[in-house]
Formats: sequence, structure tokens, C-alpha cells
Amino acid sequence: MFLTKEEQAMCDGEYGETIRKSMDILVALGDIYGASGLVDITSAQVSGVSYKTIGEAGLEYLQDLAKDESAKASVNASLNPPGTDLDNWKELGFPEYFAIKQNEIVDAYADLGILKTCTCTPYLVGNVPRFRDHISWSESSAVAYSNSVIGARTNREGGPAALAAAIVGKTPLYGFHLEENRKANLVVNVNAKLKGADFGALGYIIGKVVGGGIPYFKMKNTPNNNDLKTLGAALASSGSVALYHVEDVTPEHDLNSEEDIEDIMFVSDKEILETRQALTTTDREIDLVCLGCPHASLEEIKQVASVVEGKTIKNKLWICTSVSVKATADRMGYTQTIESAGGNVVCDTCMVVAPIEEMGFEVIGVNSAKAANYVPSMCGLDVVYDDVENLVRFE
Ligand code: F3S
Repeated sequence: MFLTKEEQAMCDGEYGETIRKSMDILVALGDIYGASGLVDITSAQVSGVSYKTIGEAGLEYLQDLAKDESAKASVNASLNPPGTDLDNWKELGFPEYFAIKQNEIVDAYADLGILKTCTCTPYLVGNVPRFRDHISWSESSAVAYSNSVIGARTNREGGPAALAAAIVGKTPLYGFHLEENRKANLVVNVNAKLKGADFGALGYIIGKVVGGGIPYFKMKNTPNNNDLKTLGAALASSGSVALYHVEDVTPEHDLNSEEDIEDIMFVSDKEILETRQALTTTDREIDLVCLGCPHASLEEIKQVASVVEGKTIKNKLWICTSVSVKATADRMGYTQTIESAGGNVVCDTCMVVAPIEEMGFEVIGVNSAKAANYVPSMCGLDVVYDDVENLVRFE
């Protein structure tokens, strides 16, 4: 891979040990994937934050990198969700040992200049790349959103590669950074009018079929940004989709003409319904309804507030979001409405990366196909998959 003189000097350790280690990662990746060189990025999003997933080894690795005080993120770089609500972990019942370790991890990232935004929806809280910007993002739903809905360019980076890119300000130029690799290879005709959790079911079906391919959706109704967020998260969890197009909706939907695409499939009402049912793993009562996967937008919090307003919730309810979105929900009175009904607006974390299996919950109600896919495997708990109105039970 071609390196400039400055990049070679970074590799040689002239800019310090952390930049040298970061360049090692980027050059190794570039060599593996045949990149022609490195390209400047405008934004990074770093996953690998929860103590549940990176453990003691990850914490030590980050603290070691952070010892080099000259190494800081050189672009707008946000952090993915950790395993606790960083401020209210005690009130919400998170284990103390876990919360202490979790804060140490987030602090090490902050020492490296990664912002404690702690969200998988950085595009809702100020990390918004422009169309065709090269970026390095690692959380799979955020990758799908930035590539597809914004039209920025990123591969599905691993956490260490995104951190290295954040520090160096560059990423290897290959894969989804190149226009020729952004064309669709499967047309999906959706013969159903979708709403709510249907979008997750559609993503779950197509992710399994397409794997790492690029689907081109033709829909009967126009999805909004929340629907696209849900769809992309599901596509990226049952498959490894990093980019999709929606006819007349997403910015690169006309990169190739529909006629160029050989593979075509149809999705019916019946398949959506069957998939919704298949994502539920139990008929037992839900003890925690956990929404906000990917992290909830203000509109989604408003919708939950309207569902629970003036009522008393029987099961526990968390809606997960970033601390920035919650601040506005507080001002608008949505948080107060949800708390008065017995629910919580939970910041930073989510049902997958939090240690909910250690907190006495057994059955989790979710409206996200990504969460329905991961909660059984990562937490060992059962899930019920449905729309918010059907998950929340009232006194
Ligand atoms: Fe985000 Fe957690 Fe879902 S990181 S996409 S809320 S699994």
C-alpha cells in the first residue's frame, strides 16, 4: 500500500507509540484488502466499549494506549454504548463492580479524545458526516445508516480499527469507500405496507438472504428516518449489510439502474408476519420492555410517552437513548410522562451490551429485530418481538 513520507514516519514511531500502533493496524488492514493507500476521514465512531464485551484485556489495552498523552483523536470521534447508564447506574440497579470497570473504560477512551457521547446513533447528536465523506465507523447499525441514509462512506470497521483511524485521521481506501463497490446486487420488491416493527422484520429477512451484499428496496410506502434506522440495524444483524438503497428515498438509490440487477425477490405480508412471530422466543410474561435499539430519537421517545401517558405500567420499561437526546426529552416533559407511568429513559447503554442477565430479568420485550436477534445469544434471555403498544402492560 502506498504511504506518504509523513505516513511512513508515523509507522516508524516518529509521532509516538500510540500513533505507531494505530498505523500498524491501518496498514495491516489496507494490505489485507488491497487498498491503494490511506484516505483522510472527517468522522469516526468507535465500538468495543462495554465491559461485558471487551473485559479486563480491553480495558488494559485502552489504558496502555492512553498513556501516550500526545495521541488524541484528530477528527470528530464518538463512542458507542457502554454497559451501564454512566450517571444513574445505581438507581437503575446495575452491578457496582461492573459500573466501576465501565467508567474506567469510558475514561480511557476520553483520554484518547473520543467523545463520551455513548450512542449508536451519533448522527442524532452532532456527529453527522456529509454526503460522500470518508469516515470510519464501527457499530453495524450506525455504519448501515451513514452509508445508506447519509451517503457517507465507511466499511464495517472493528473497534480497534475505528479507534486507530480516529487517532491518525485516515483509513485504508478500499471496499465501500470506492463508488464501484456501492452498487446494489439484489432488488427487493416489498409487497406489503409496513409500519413499526415490520421494518425490523423486513431487514431480518433480507439480511439473511443477502449476507454482505447491497439490497435495493422498492417499497409501497415511504419509510421515515426512524424506519430506516430500524431496517438498517436488522439488515446488519441477521446479515452483514453495510449499505442498502431504497428507491426514491436514499441518496445513492440511482447508482445503478434497476435493470442492471439480476437478482430479484419479493416479500409479502405473510412473510413479514411469520418473521415477526418467529423472532419471539417465549409466551411467558415480559418483565422488562426495552426500547431504543438503535438508540431512540426524540420522536420515538415522544411516541412512547404518548402510549403510557396517564397510565401505570405493570412490567418495567426502559427506553434507551443518548444523554443528549434525553436532555431535550427532559425539557419537553416526555421523560416526566414516562417516569410518572413507572418507566425510565435510560442513557448510554442498551439491552444487548448491558449485563441485564445479572439484573434479575428473564423475558425482554423489544421492538427491534436486532435486539430480538442478539438478546437470546448475548444475554441468554427470552424475547418477545412486537410494537410498543403491544409490549407494555398496564395496571
Ligand atoms: Fe445500539 Fe445496542 Fe442496538 S448498541 S444498535 S442499542 S444492540
